[in-house]
Formats: sequence, structure tokens, C-alpha cells
Amino acid sequence: MAEPAIRLQNVHLTLGSGRSSVHVLKGMDLVVERGESVGIVGPSGSGKSTLLMVLAGLERADSGLVEIAGQALGPLSEDQLATFRGRNIGIVFQSFHLIPNMTALENVAVPLELAGHSDAFARAERELANVGLKDRVTHYPGELSGGEQQRVAMARALAPEPAILIADEPTGNLDAATGVQIADLLFAEQARRQMTLVLVTHDRDLAARCGREVRVRSGEIETPNGVGRPPLAGQSGESRSGMVP
Ligand SMILES: Nc1ncnc2c1ncn2[C@@H]1O[C@H](COP(=O)(O)OP(=O)(O)OP(=O)(O)O)[C@@H](O)[C@H]1O
Ligand SMILES: [Mg+2]
Repeated sequence: MAEPAIRLQNVHLTLGSGRSSVHVLKGMDLVVERGESVGIVGPSGSGKSTLLMVLAGLERADSGLVEIAGQALGPLSEDQLATFRGRNIGIVFQSFHLIPNMTALENVAVPLELAGHSDAFARAERELANVGLKDRVTHYPGELSGGEQQRVAMARALAPEPAILIADEPTGNLDAATGVQIADLLFAEQARRQMTLVLVTHDRDLAARCGREVRVRSGEIETPNGVGRPPLAGQSGESRSGMVP
């Protein structure tokens, strides 16, 4: 059988330094199969965005295994990591992260061009048409609605045809109706392109649309036995359930 899309084993990460250092990820284990959609939920500050950064190779774990499509990210150099991310992982953020002085078309095409695609502009135009923005390609982000900006960000994320799409509160800055439209687009594209989707959200309805929900609490992944790593063989579930706050 093919390797899972994502495999995390005992991942730890501390961010910041000195008095502001925070042990954010405290031994996370997670396996996401190819084609799965997983909704990551949990309180503010629990480490959800940090987890996504580690999955995307934008932050390196201090220890533990981070494996994407069978490739361990730890040994890769910064350049290798950037290339790997560009080929395999699309990312959509809550606040769109478009470049303000580039048109919608340039926002999608320039990263493709930098990644060496000779048909970058034609491909970007197709991807923008696919998200319903055929008539907005020459608009700058400031000339687009929030929903339209998120569509551009989705086109940019989808254009390299990544196997894994990571979305951090993709509807968080949108009104409810627009959020549902973006979510519809996200799940339709995930199904059509058979991508693996990892989505962080505070929206219960959105999380419920994912095939599976994973709950994060204080830097740990909740398991049916409580918070933290699954019990080792022979260790009783009861002994850990007391850890749930
Ligand atoms: N660079 C940093 N230095 C120190 N601490 C950090 C840094 N980045 C994040 N943190 C801390 O790590 C914790 C987890 O942050 P993270 O952004 O992953 O939370 P989150 O679950 O995504 O929260 P939200 O739902 O509010 O987006 C927070 O307590 C945060 O203050
Ligand atoms: Mg967050």
C-alpha cells in the first residue's frame, strides 16, 4: 500500500526564545491517508496553526518525524524543502496573503513561473477561470472582495496540482454565505483532484464536512483515551483519561 499522505511521530516544537519561549507541539502523532479530509479543531492557542506550519515544512520540528508522501522533511535542506513544498503542498490562509501590487493573474502565475512552469500564465488563467474569476484576472487584490481574494488564493494553491492542500481557517475572514461558497469550492476541488485536505477551523459545520475531525488541546492531539500520545500496548486507557481538563 502507498505511504500515507502525512505521518507525524512524536513531534515537538518550541517557538520563541528566553522568557517568551513556548513549548507549542508536545509530542504529536498523526497519520492522514491519501485522499482523506481532516478537520483540525481546538481552542485558540492550542497549536493548530503551528501544526500546519510543520506539515507544510514552513517550521521545522525540534524532534520527531515529519513525513509527507513518504518523504521525511527533517533531512532536507532549505532549498530542497522549498522545492518539495512547491511540488506537493498547497496552502490557503485566513487572510489570503496575496501580493497587493500584483494582479490576480500575476499572483497565481508568478509562483508557477518561479517553480519553472513554462506555461505559467496560461495555467494561471485556467485556474482563475476554474474558481469563477475569469472576469477578474487583471484586478488587484484591493479591487476584489474578500471571497474573490480567497478564490485567487485557492487558484494559486491549486495551480501546481499539489497532492496535499492545507488550509488555515480559510473562511475565517468571510461572511457566512461567502464562507460556505469557499468551502463548497474547497471540497469540490479536493474530490475532483483527489487531494488530501487538512483544514483548521473554528467553524463546527465546516469541520463536520471533513471526513474526520482531529482535536488539538494544549499542543497535543486528543485521542479517544484522552490527550496525548496513544497508550502503548498493555497500558490502560483509564490511566490517561484523567489528563483531560
Ligand atoms: N513565534 C512564536 N514565539 C513564541 N510563541 C509562539 C510563536 N508562535 C506561536 N506561539 C505560541 O504558540 C501557541 C500556539 O499558537 P498557534 O498559532 O499554533 O495557535 P492556534 O491553535 O492556531 O490558535 P488560533 O485558533 O487562535 O489561531 C500560542 O500560545 C502562541 O502564543
Ligand atoms: Mg491559528
